[in-house]
Amino acid sequence: MAKEKISKREYPWKTKIGDSEYTFRLMTTQDRDAMLEFARGLPEGDLLFLAVDITNQRAVDDWIRRLNEGSLRTVLVEQDGKLVGHGSLIHEEQVWTRHLGGMILLLAPEVRGKGLGHSLAGELFSYAEELGLLKVMARMAADQKGAIQVFEKMGFKMEALLADCVIDREDRTHDLIIMSYDVTGHSV
Ligand SMILES: CC(C)(COP(=O)(O)OP(=O)(O)OC[C@H]1O[C@@H](n2cnc3c(N)ncnc32)[C@H](O)[C@@H]1OP(=O)(O)O)[C@@H](O)C(=O)NCCC(=O)NCCS
Repeated sequence: MAKEKISKREYPWKTKIGDSEYTFRLMTTQDRDAMLEFARGLPEGDLLFLAVDITNQRAVDDWIRRLNEGSLRTVLVEQDGKLVGHGSLIHEEQVWTRHLGGMILLLAPEVRGKGLGHSLAGELFSYAEELGLLKVMARMAADQKGAIQVFEKMGFKMEALLADCVIDREDRTHDLIIMSYDVTGHSV
C-alpha cells in the first residue's frame, strides 16, 4: 500500500465509543494534579509495573519538565472531564538512539478493550513520524502478558528479553521485554 503523508494532529478532538464520549488532548503543566489522582486510583496490579512512578509528585513534576523541554509528548484521554488514561512518546535528540521513541500507554481498567489504546498509539505513531523517528520502542515486564498481546496486535514486534531488568514496587525483579514498531512503514 502506498504510504500517505500524515498531517499534523490538532487537539483537542473527541470520539464516541458506545454511549461514552472521549476527549484526546495534550497534557500541560496544569494537569499535574489530575495525573497524580489518575495514577493513585489505579489498581495495585497496574502500579506494580509503572515504568515511571506517576503516583509520586516528584516524578510527575519531572514528567512536566520533560514536556516543557519538548523531549516528551503526552496525549491525555478524558471521559466527562476526568482523566482516564494517557499515551506518551519520549525522545531524546542528543544521543545515539535519537532515531527512536519510547511509548508508554496507560488506561484506567474501566476503559480498556474499547480501542482507546489503539487510538493513542496511532496519535503517537503520527507524532513519531512528524519527528522523523524510525522506530518506536515499548518496554514491559514479561509478566504483563495481556499488554504484550495488545502491542503485538498493534504491530509491535518482539526485540529482546533482558533477564531481571525490571524491579517492581515490592522490590521483586522481573524479565524486561522490549518491543518495537517500524514507524517508516506506518500509514493511516
Ligand atoms: C495496554 C493498554 C494501553 C491497551 O489499551 P486498550 O484500549 O485496552 O487496547 P485496545 O482496546 O485499543 O486494543 C488493541 C488491540 O489489542 C486487543 N486486545 C485488547 N485487550 C486485549 C487482551 N487483554 N488480550 C489480548 N488482546 C487484547 C484488541 O482486540 C485490539 O486488537 P485489534 O486491533 O486486532 O482489534 C491497556 O490495556 C492498559 O492500559 N494496560 C495497562 C498498562 C500497560 O500494561 N501498558 C503497557 C506498557 S507501556
